[in-house]
Amino acid sequence: MGTILLLSGPNLNLLGDRQPEVYGHATLDACVAAARAAAEAAGHDLEHVRSNHEGELVDALHAARGRCVAVVVNPGALTHYSYSLADALAAFDGVSVELHLSNPSAREEWRRLSVVAPYVTGTVAGFGSEGYRLAVEAAVSCLG
Ligand code: DQA
Repeated sequence: MGTILLLSGPNLNLLGDRQPEVYGHATLDACVAAARAAAEAAGHDLEHVRSNHEGELVDALHAARGRCVAVVVNPGALTHYSYSLADALAAFDGVSVELHLSNPSAREEWRRLSVVAPYVTGTVAGFGSEGYRLAVEAAVSCLG
């Protein structure tokens, strides 16, 4: 039916190993597999782009314009300061879901601001690796 883009920002390649008390034990591969299963169950394809570099994530969002029906993005720390990612999301014309494993609002002060939040359809945060399935299901339900 359509392609859903899953974007993973800085440090998410370390999932499973990085601060498991905050982010859990699931690896990024396992999270992507769960997101893909949810997309395929709804008849969509899932494409995953992971980068520690802001510009590569911006490029992936540009490449998704007019091609992907939805984007699910965990921008990592870029959430809190990347205006270029915010602008790229504003320029994306499909459904968009901001995703976090942790609940940034319940953590340090500097994590409480999301500069991308004004440009996404909605946010899934605080449900650990389950969030990957939930975020795809949320996107699919918005697609109607
Ligand atoms: C994160 C939350 C961010 O504050 C943090 O910088 C991350 C991961 C999350 O998934 O909980 O790298 O996006």
